[in-house]
Amino acid sequence: MDRLVITGGKRLSGSVKVSPAKNAVLPVITATLLAKTPCLLEEVPALADVETICSVIEYLGAEVVKEGPGLKIYVPDIRQTEAPYDFVRRMRASFLVMGPLLARTGRARIALPGGCAIGSRPIDLHLKGFCLLGAEIIQGHGYIEARARKLIGSRIYLDFPSVGATENLIMAASLARGKTVIENAAEEPEVVDLANFLNAMGASVKGAGTKVIRIEGVSELYGAIYNVIPDRIEAGTFMIAAAISGGEVTVENVICDHIAPVLAKLQEAGVNVVRGDTWAKVVAPEKVKPADIKTMPYPGFPTDMQPQFMALMSVSRGGASVITETVFENRFMHVNELKRMGAKIKVSGRTAIVQGVKQLTGARVKCTDLRAGAALVLAGLAARGETEISNLQHIDRGYESLVDKIKSLGADIKRARGA
Ligand code: UD1
Repeated sequence: MDRLVITGGKRLSGSVKVSPAKNAVLPVITATLLAKTPCLLEEVPALADVETICSVIEYLGAEVVKEGPGLKIYVPDIRQTEAPYDFVRRMRASFLVMGPLLARTGRARIALPGGCAIGSRPIDLHLKGFCLLGAEIIQGHGYIEARARKLIGSRIYLDFPSVGATENLIMAASLARGKTVIENAAEEPEVVDLANFLNAMGASVKGAGTKVIRIEGVSELYGAIYNVIPDRIEAGTFMIAAAISGGEVTVENVICDHIAPVLAKLQEAGVNVVRGDTWAKVVAPEKVKPADIKTMPYPGFPTDMQPQFMALMSVSRGGASVITETVFENRFMHVNELKRMGAKIKVSGRTAIVQGVKQLTGARVKCTDLRAGAALVLAGLAARGETEISNLQHIDRGYESLVDKIKSLGADIKRARGA
């Protein structure tokens, strides 16, 4: 049981490079199951979630070989069409193999993901879409099985613009017969990135990044060479690290348009942000001002930045901030941990009222999920004294070399091994 030990109060300065996006690379890795010829992903972040998804596709028949900072993935045959509970339990995104498996082999049997720390997270929208593409869905013994001799293009309206459902359905529809239209699709940059990868493999996906995505099914897809987009959530996390520590940090390898709402809210909080083409420089104000946020599907404020922004608001001065979570029903697990560090936060339903305090104080806290963990690291940077964070497996899932990167900016942070 490793812990992170942070002694707060250091002003961060310098520059830091953002890694390729976790949420882009995971669906792209599952999409390699669609091609019989090898794919090369030129740069892949070293993350626990990437290892998990690679074990899943290896189990299904993929050969995954490290090639420099990237991965070569070759799936000449699908050997297995079943993803067992052990994988799906470790990471919900494993469910993204359903679309590719169904499209390539006509069968997929995946363990039901079940609940997770931030809500029940159903998969009904994925299944509704597969049904409309002509699949028969059978559920039992904790598994969902989908079968179709050949998927047939269809018109699919998503009741909510789910990122995962949009991705799963684009992948399935790419090898379906005829045309599919997904309405009320997720517009996230990671969806666009997946569509670009599929198009590089020979698919015909149009309109990704808008609410209506049109896919013309093709009979075969081929291996492609690809580089995924930078991680907008990691970028936003470093920006808040600069702001909360009173520092000045240049974040490199960032597509500012992808985090426009985060930049806007940082500016509203008094943080100075200078945007470059592939970088952004963040200069903290003397005092951070309160700002309200409401999480929304893209291009709204990302739910994956809500905990980190809450950490920043917990040290704002001159009033209260209202934080409303509309994407997940239970994404305030970090509140109690932040309160242990002296934050003043009241939660009522999906809204949290954060009354900024002059100073957080270091404490022993634990990560409850990935972004909650990031929020605690940020709070630790600002707190007086020592913060000790446990349950680091959550942070390891999605932040590449977090300790080294933050340390290189001047933070006093170390990973302590063992109990
Ligand atoms: C992805 C991201 C995650 C991010 C989330 C929202 C990956 C690997 N993960 O997760 O980091 O927080 O988008 O931006 O990319 N829903 C249903 N039925 C469904 C599917 C989803 O009701 O069939 C609901 C969920 O319970 C949730 C909301 O839709 O309340 C958003 O979920 P979704 O967009 O699907 O998130 P994920 O793809 O799981």
